Amino acid sequence: MAKRKVGVWLVGAWGGVATTVVVGLCALRKGLTDTTGLVSSLPPFASLDLVGWEELVIGGHEIRETTYSAEAQVLLEKSHVFSATALTAIASQLAKFDKNIRPGTLVNVGATIDALAGPAAAKTRKETAAQAVARLAKDISEFKTREKLDRVIVVNVSSTEPPPPDAIRSWSWADIQKSLQGKAASPLPASTLYAIAALQSASPFVNFTPSIGSDLPGLYEYALQQKVVHVGRDGKTGETLMKAVLAPMFAARNLKVMSWVGHNIFGNLDGKVLDDPVNKANKVKSKDHLLTEILGYKPQSLVSIEYIESMGDWKTAWDHIHFQGFLGTPMVLQFIWQGCDSLLAAPLVIDLIRLTEREARRGGSGVMSHLASFFKSPMGCDEPAFAYQFQQLMQWVKTVSEE
Ligand SMILES: NC(=O)c1ccc[n+]([C@@H]2O[C@H](COP(=O)([O-])OP(=O)(O)OC[C@H]3O[C@@H](n4cnc5c(N)ncnc54)[C@H](O)[C@@H]3O)[C@@H](O)[C@H]2O)c1
Repeated sequence: MAKRKVGVWLVGAWGGVATTVVVGLCALRKGLTDTTGLVSSLPPFASLDLVGWEELVIGGHEIRETTYSAEAQVLLEKSHVFSATALTAIASQLAKFDKNIRPGTLVNVGATIDALAGPAAAKTRKETAAQAVARLAKDISEFKTREKLDRVIVVNVSSTEPPPPDAIRSWSWADIQKSLQGKAASPLPASTLYAIAALQSASPFVNFTPSIGSDLPGLYEYALQQKVVHVGRDGKTGETLMKAVLAPMFAARNLKVMSWVGHNIFGNLDGKVLDDPVNKANKVKSKDHLLTEILGYKPQSLVSIEYIESMGDWKTAWDHIHFQGFLGTPMVLQFIWQGCDSLLAAPLVIDLIRLTEREARRGGSGVMSHLASFFKSPMGCDEPAFAYQFQQLMQWVKTVSEE
């Protein structure tokens, strides 16, 4: 029998990553798959008493109207992931989770995301930012009561928003409240409204996207005030993971990186949204900043992200690294990464849910900087090298297991 009952509230609940998380959890529950890809299933984590698959209940916010089975079917047909037999075996559980999905908000999401909205979300178009926060927080609280949950973890896996106005990046909690209560329309992006709603409901907030979410001084302040944990931004799943591993090697061998070019092509809904140059700007920034941080100088760099529909959920990244060796000799490293986007992301989201729940259970609050190895732009961590970040996680594991 389950020891705990923990809610997972997915923002972007029927998207590719969210659907793969839910299919993955249902498959793990039924023993239809093993734990390959899950960091939290490595041996050192065994003594932490992490939350189990059968203890998690799914709910969330969405702006499109569909179902888990329909979205999983699209991934199966277009991207050849999942087995049809497994989907049949978990269909009734997926349908149960569909019932917990509520309309998300369209406040400050930008035109490309707004165009995805189905009729239920479209009805909310006229709500103010403050009304949106109140409605979103109510949905989370009702989910907790209805499902008799010990706690709800809110995870943002929705589409990448356009970058917010620079002015808000320095806002305190008082500035944020003033903006929500003011007569003028608040410029706070939807991801931040979701973060406020989560913190207000005393629910931990995990931002797997490049959108700003809780990464504002005012929300660092509010999370501490509410005694809630939060973390983000932008899951480090593929090409940027390679950068965070390889760039320290060039630095350690005193090899000078002259240029680093990364071309990314993929064809899922995320790629379609990122095809809008405004939304793309957020993602490129998140993928590009760590080279300068690791190397200590800025090589010429280029990150391209192109939407190629036929690729479906499969992403190919081709990176060309031009570097200088001894006696000024130029040399080249190239790599090609071919990964299935949602299948790389989903296990990390499941890890983040389990590790966040554990930190919340031990009474943590504020930014979980020990989870930096999961993110491209980690909150609360200035050290960009993957090996260092992973050591921080291992140190946390040691501390918690000794408690
Ligand atoms: N490997 C990866 O897949 C990976 C890695 C790192 C980060 N991410 C980020 O994770 C996010 C999700 O990726 P995905 O491939 O699942 O994208 P997706 O487009 O398949 O899913 C996003 C979902 O969010 C929904 N949505 C958009 N705006 C919303 C709003 N305001 N409220 C509620 N729902 C909203 C969309 O309808 C869609 O269903 C993206 O921001 C992506 O950049 C993905």
